Amino acid sequence: MAEESKLTRIGLAGLAVMGQNLALNIAEKGFPISVYNRSTIKVDETVERAKKEGDLPVFGFHDPESFVKSIQKPRMIIMLVKAGAPVDQTIKTLSQYMEKGDCIIDGGNEWYENTERREKAMAEIGLLYLGMGVSGGEEGARNGPSMMPGGSIEAYKYIEDIVLKVAAQVPDSGPCVTYIGEGGSGNFVKMVHNGIEYGDMQLISEAYDVLKSVGKLSNEELHQVFSEWNKGELQSFLIEITADIFAIKDDKADGYLVDKVLDKTGMKGTGKWTVQQAADLSIAAPTIAASLDSRFLSGLKDERVEAAKVFKSSGVDDILADQTVDKEKLINDVRQALYAAKICSYAQGMNLIRAKSVEKDWGLKLGELARIWKGGCIIRAIFLDRIKQAYDRNPELANLLVDPEFAKEMVERQSAWRRVVCLAINAGISTPGMSTSLAYFDTYRRERLPANLVQAQRDYFGAHTYERTDMPGSFHTEWFKLAKQINN
Ligand SMILES: *[C@@H]1O[C@H](CO)[C@@H](O)[C@H](O)[C@H]1NC(C)=O
Repeated sequence: MAEESKLTRIGLAGLAVMGQNLALNIAEKGFPISVYNRSTIKVDETVERAKKEGDLPVFGFHDPESFVKSIQKPRMIIMLVKAGAPVDQTIKTLSQYMEKGDCIIDGGNEWYENTERREKAMAEIGLLYLGMGVSGGEEGARNGPSMMPGGSIEAYKYIEDIVLKVAAQVPDSGPCVTYIGEGGSGNFVKMVHNGIEYGDMQLISEAYDVLKSVGKLSNEELHQVFSEWNKGELQSFLIEITADIFAIKDDKADGYLVDKVLDKTGMKGTGKWTVQQAADLSIAAPTIAASLDSRFLSGLKDERVEAAKVFKSSGVDDILADQTVDKEKLINDVRQALYAAKICSYAQGMNLIRAKSVEKDWGLKLGELARIWKGGCIIRAIFLDRIKQAYDRNPELANLLVDPEFAKEMVERQSAWRRVVCLAINAGISTPGMSTSLAYFDTYRRERLPANLVQAQRDYFGAHTYERTDMPGSFHTEWFKLAKQINN
């Protein structure tokens, strides 16, 4: 066994690109790290990279036992392997060499209940466990991700000095990491982060569709518009990369690459989980659901090609040709619609997190979550600072929409938003994210909804009873009998 002084500070198992990059990041911040992967080639590759990228203190091991024993106690080991069975397999491999008080940290996109199950199983053999969502992709892992650790607070304390340095650093806001809460809360928060990411990407793609299909903007113009947007309230990683994408020429043929990319979206499951959780908790998350549905529909490429033929012969395509628009005005309107819809999407995500926090008694702080998403992660945006401020002003805020600042912004943008949605509908361009966000806003802000009629129907056919607006209690009416008297 290695001498006490030669032991490393932490270990990392699973050396795909994310794992390699995170290990190099940790080493670069001054923490000697042991790395392990079943396929030894990955280990050698990582050590090789560590040498090249500045002689970083990365130590490779080809077998799990010497890997585990090379780490100082209590041993902290981050796992970056595929969610599900590979995680259980890796835990099994490593835990047999670990000792009481050591800790395994799952850095993958794991379903939060799996983390809670593993935390319990580990506790039975005296081991600690953390489920830590990591966002930022490969680049973030290397240079500063946003990290969402949840589970054993004791274990978190052992890695706090590491993660505070490894995380993205945002001026005046601090490192993009905080202890999230107990159990699977770190995974849950990361899952909703990804759901919000689905929403953002959908809304941006709709803005693109309206500007391109109705406004007839070229890729060069789109590049200009998104670059301009990235200087204002929409400034964010996703707007920035979108601007970049429009400027990239095809390397295999004439024209721009974006026009050659097949319109079929992939997904790994966190968006679907988010929508399922929203339904389980009775939280309306229509913007996130619309982005998930859009991905499903995008997958039906062959069917859509056939459907397009069917409707082309009936003249539906001609609607588009009839539209004439003022480009400048349209660009300005779409920017405002995008921003307003984005507020709705974040409001839904935050409400979902709060509902889960209440159910599980996690005590999550929504403002802190907005803070650690300001840098490093895929949804990083200047806008998150406004969300943090809203929850600072009022931690009990029922919905972001009614924060005085956001409410004012919604009101200022609603005309533009309505114009964009109407224009898209009339042009036959689907904008499910923008329109359902608008419906969310219009539903939430209305004191009286037509739900009275739904409730009356329920009482009519099922005697489900109803409440009244003018007196307390539960009422049932013999609607059928009364209607019969009238009809006779
Ligand atoms: C090691 O690498 C392979 C791919 O080369 C991967 O499938 C596996 O999950 C990795 N992780 C561990 C802990 O062995």
